[in-house]
Amino acid sequence: MSFTRARAVISRSLKSLPSYAPQVHRAFTTTRPRLSSETPPSPSPSSPSPSSPPQQSVSPLAPIGVAAALDPTITPMPKIFDEFSLRDRVCIVSGAGRGLGLEMALALCEAGARAVYCFDLPGEPSGEWEMVREYVRRMGVGMGGGEGKGKGGRLEYVCADVRDQEGMWRKVGEVGDREGRMDVCVAAAGVGLAHVDCLVYPKEQFEAVMNVNTNGVLYTAQAAGQQMVRFGNAGSIILIASMFGKHPNKDHAWVPYNTSKSAVIQMARSMACELGTRNIRVNSLSPGHIYTQMTAAYLDMQPHLLEKWSSLNPMGRIGRSDELRGVIAWLASDASSFCTGSDILVSGGHHAW
Ligand SMILES: NC(=O)c1ccc[n+]([C@@H]2O[C@H](COP(=O)([O-])OP(=O)(O)OC[C@H]3O[C@@H](n4cnc5c(N)ncnc54)[C@H](O)[C@@H]3O)[C@@H](O)[C@H]2O)c1
Repeated sequence: MSFTRARAVISRSLKSLPSYAPQVHRAFTTTRPRLSSETPPSPSPSSPSPSSPPQQSVSPLAPIGVAAALDPTITPMPKIFDEFSLRDRVCIVSGAGRGLGLEMALALCEAGARAVYCFDLPGEPSGEWEMVREYVRRMGVGMGGGEGKGKGGRLEYVCADVRDQEGMWRKVGEVGDREGRMDVCVAAAGVGLAHVDCLVYPKEQFEAVMNVNTNGVLYTAQAAGQQMVRFGNAGSIILIASMFGKHPNKDHAWVPYNTSKSAVIQMARSMACELGTRNIRVNSLSPGHIYTQMTAAYLDMQPHLLEKWSSLNPMGRIGRSDELRGVIAWLASDASSFCTGSDILVSGGHHAW
């Protein structure tokens, strides 16, 4: 299909989308890369010489790195942590009432986010979540800010079911209305279910896992992506998959869980391909075994599993939830600005054997 025809088809289909559609169309028309059959623009007198490297983008922190070192007018100073800064950014994290989602929400606040909205099922947040919110508030005060003073982040709670597509679009839209931007989405809500022989896995249970782990992840990513396009700021969407999306867990009959996570890995790649020219990056993050309430359901009931799971990776132990702080800050921030369509494994090397 020619580009012109493709654009006409997309324009027609966008007519049925909600109010962010005009921005979608504008982004598509203004950021498309030049097609190879098109004649390249003739060089203007100010064009770089043929020996200059082609430059299609400039870091918001430029000059940085070697370019800064080669500029004698620059005062040397470290900028690497500035690249990880989420200063003033707005984030949503699903499944952030507890577990890995809550840990990642706190990490985003510590990286400087203005507000991190935690979406989860319970009508009211848990005591654990309230303590984390209070910790974030006190951290802001410690940084010289606090309520209304513009420093430190906010943790907000939103009761939501990721299986409800319309509800997710609306509730994330309300976050956009309130904050006026959307920068980061972490889709971490997930469920595991019982061991059942794959040949008789009940339809209802299979669908229950897929509805949260795959469909719900798509609805969350859609909701955030719509707001990113609406406000025209670049965005980072991180879909929480699992190493079991690639490597089934030895001796565990978890076909729906593993299937749902494989789908998430492919979903991230596919969305990345569609959204790259709109400056929205999409990656999946695949943790290995980590002790949370999800895995406690197995480990606390069958203590021998701790030794077994630990022996399955070269580090000889399972992971801690705080060991995902660095990778989530990296994926959410400009420090990973050329990373999209990737699956990042953090598994203690489980996959290496
Ligand atoms: N813990 C691990 O070892 C591990 C490893 C790999 C991947 N993961 C994935 O990481 C994510 C977080 O897992 P965790 O270990 O923190 O589990 P967890 O059970 O502690 O947390 C999952 C959260 O998702 C929420 N949730 C479930 N269904 C929901 C729905 N329909 N709508 C909104 N929220 C919903 C739960 O209420 C809970 O707060 C999951 O996607 C999980 O599959 C976990």
